Amino acid sequence: MMQQTTYTFSSASSTIYTDADIACLPEWVSGKPIIVTDEQVFAAQQHKLAAWPCIVLPAGEQHKTAATVDHLINQLVAMQADRSTTLVGVGGGVITDITGYAASIYMRGIPVGFVPTTILAMVDAAIGGKNGVDLGLYKNLVGTIRQPGFIACDLSLLQSLPREQWINGFAEIIKHACIRDADMFAVLEQHTPDDFRNNHDLLLQLINRNIALKCSIVQQDEFEKGDRKLLNFGHTIGHAIENTYGLLHGHAISIGMAAACRIAEEMNNFYSTAKDRVIALLQRYELPVSLSFDKKQVGDMVLMDKKRTGDIIHFILPETIGHAVIRPIGTDQFRDLLTQIF
Ligand SMILES: NC(=O)c1ccc[n+]([C@@H]2O[C@H](COP(=O)([O-])OP(=O)(O)OC[C@H]3O[C@@H](n4cnc5c(N)ncnc54)[C@H](O)[C@@H]3O)[C@@H](O)[C@H]2O)c1
Ligand SMILES: [Zn+2]
Repeated sequence: MMQQTTYTFSSASSTIYTDADIACLPEWVSGKPIIVTDEQVFAAQQHKLAAWPCIVLPAGEQHKTAATVDHLINQLVAMQADRSTTLVGVGGGVITDITGYAASIYMRGIPVGFVPTTILAMVDAAIGGKNGVDLGLYKNLVGTIRQPGFIACDLSLLQSLPREQWINGFAEIIKHACIRDADMFAVLEQHTPDDFRNNHDLLLQLINRNIALKCSIVQQDEFEKGDRKLLNFGHTIGHAIENTYGLLHGHAISIGMAAACRIAEEMNNFYSTAKDRVIALLQRYELPVSLSFDKKQVGDMVLMDKKRTGDIIHFILPETIGHAVIRPIGTDQFRDLLTQIF
């Protein structure tokens, strides 16, 4: 049965519906909806979207660019969209990021909501208001923070999600467990990805738990001055390898989390048993934990990371299962650590 919670952040509120049915969209939107989706979601879910005007973008991270945003905005102009329009991003994190960003800049801001269609977007990307696009290899270099009016998770849309994409989404769930929720970590250790795929109630509980966890962090620190940085666990190295090696986002951050655990062990922050538990959990969820990469190139990429100020990287290190800290690491020390652990 549909559940509804309104989360108030420092700038605005978002209403989050879970176990929702996309047919109820008119109840969530105040103005005229225009759906923004991608070709794969549209092909799989066209029958559920037919009632509304739709803009269909090409699918994939390589299209999360300013050029796609321009193309989208040109279509909004052609459709005479204005401030009485609500853009509704129906898709994975690529679509929610692009739609949120376009809505925040078109006519200096029009209403937006999301219907996430991947696990990753339901538990993470659709929540918290960060949006934006990549610039070449640099992930999310351009964007804004602006909360969507609503987010609605319709689990029936996941029926067409390829298994590889299910796996991909569990990387962000494991991230949440590592930084804030030791009990969820233990729950995940007792299950497998297919347990969640095959059990609606188990999956719903997991999604609700992740939404609540992420929202509580964003409520405390919407503009990432402090604890919101913890959500970047695995992302400093993950973002540096994601586009360079054409990895799925979840795969890239899984490798990034495993690397951060090894760095923590190297710096005597994290016991090797805890590191082994994180790596074993990532593997249980069929996620990659290593990659041979060009350390010089990745070291250079990290210099463009948004968590860097001057020569200092604000690196997220695990301390115990369920608890992580933000540690400043010098960029030279970081390069040394990269060579030690890989
Ligand atoms: N804004 C944030 O806070 C935040 C947080 C985490 C991740 N992200 C971003 O999210 C992106 C990754 O999101 P993603 O993994 O959802 O990727 P995605 O949007 O590329 O979706 C993955 C693939 O699955 C297809 N797909 C999606 N839903 C489907 C469905 N129901 N049925 C069939 N096919 C479907 C898509 O067409 C795409 O090919 C990255 O760009 C990442 O940077 C943003
Ligand atoms: Zn992420």
